[in-house]
Amino acid sequence: MPIASTNYDRLEASAKLLLPPASYDYAAGGAGLEKTIAANREAFDHWRIVPRVMRPVLPSRNLSTILFNRTLPAPIVMAPIGVQTLFHPTGERATSKVFGELGLPYTLSTASSTGFANVAASNGAGNPRWYQLYWPSDDDLTRSYLRTAKEHGYEVLVVTVDTWDLGWRARDLDRGFFPFIDGVGVQIGLEDPVAHEKLGFNPLAANATTEQKQMAALYHTITTSRGLSPVWSNLWKLREVWGDAPILLKGVQSAEDAKAALGWGVDGVILSNHGGRQVDGAIGSLDALPAIVEAVKGRLVIGFDGGIRSGADIFKALALGADFVQLGRPILWGLAHEGEKGVRHVLKSLLAEFEITVGLVGSASLAGVNATLLVENRR
Ligand SMILES: Cc1cc2nc3c(=O)[nH]c(=O)nc-3n(C[C@H](O)[C@H](O)[C@H](O)COP(=O)(O)O)c2cc1C
Repeated sequence: MPIASTNYDRLEASAKLLLPPASYDYAAGGAGLEKTIAANREAFDHWRIVPRVMRPVLPSRNLSTILFNRTLPAPIVMAPIGVQTLFHPTGERATSKVFGELGLPYTLSTASSTGFANVAASNGAGNPRWYQLYWPSDDDLTRSYLRTAKEHGYEVLVVTVDTWDLGWRARDLDRGFFPFIDGVGVQIGLEDPVAHEKLGFNPLAANATTEQKQMAALYHTITTSRGLSPVWSNLWKLREVWGDAPILLKGVQSAEDAKAALGWGVDGVILSNHGGRQVDGAIGSLDALPAIVEAVKGRLVIGFDGGIRSGADIFKALALGADFVQLGRPILWGLAHEGEKGVRHVLKSLLAEFEITVGLVGSASLAGVNATLLVENRR
């Protein structure tokens, strides 16, 4: 018997029963009236798959893909998600371990409750690791975070550009819930040597006071969530430290911005509206995909997230032209079920359903997954 349901809605329902209400709402909720969360799901219904039959498909489908010079078993990446200890005490250690086991890229968030070194250790030597930056307002901190990320084998930089300030998240506001001021989701700041210099103390030292720990938590939160840094003309500051290694901008929804990203020399964009947590009433992320594919496909790597709940959803995003997809909330609901066991169950289930879908529509590999297998749903 599986540890939890293989159906998304039932998985979320049992996670809700296991989690403290504030943690559940933090993950389930979004900005304002949560219309963007709904739009992300509706966008998948705008497309229907047209299966093809009587084609030679191998006994198992080859889902492998090459991304940034690495051959991956599937184009599936862990979305950067902060404060994962809200969902299970093992948090990022569990999620990074399972993605490592399967050889799929793991993206560490700047709002992580576990630091660079510990996540690198649980993820495993040689596995593909990415780092997501909430771009600090202080350049010294930015340089330090990037240097530490590099030292610990994080290969791709994901710069989140839609969250230089937090959206209006009604569920959290109504509870007065903000885990960062309690010191959860600030570990990268607490461990940072440059932050220690700026603060004049090390909040992790044995003799650090409670006030010092709180001050360090606030310092990380304010410098990373209230930022003027993410503007096009500042991108060179990241290149200066990150060198030629890949840089992706996460949070792009407009074809004009994707073209600008190309002009400013980044390597890719990740279509995302932060799971509907930033702008209420915004376009569903999948609805933004075709125009961006038309504008930059083949010249920028295109990642996608927002509302993926099944293998068929993964299929639709890839068929519309995404080079890879990111998994968000499903992994958190898995994490709520006994940590790594639940994560492994959810990730392997999504991979299996995706593999079955690719075969049942008549493709032996991802080369055959394209928009000719989709029609617009006019109902
Ligand atoms: C609880 C939670 C925390 C998140 N934390 C981050 C984060 O630290 N950095 C980031 O770039 N995106 C963050 N995101 C957004 C995800 O990376 C991703 O864009 C989103 O979850 C995709 O939507 P979906 O989960 O509904 O598929 C977070 C999302 C959730 C639900």
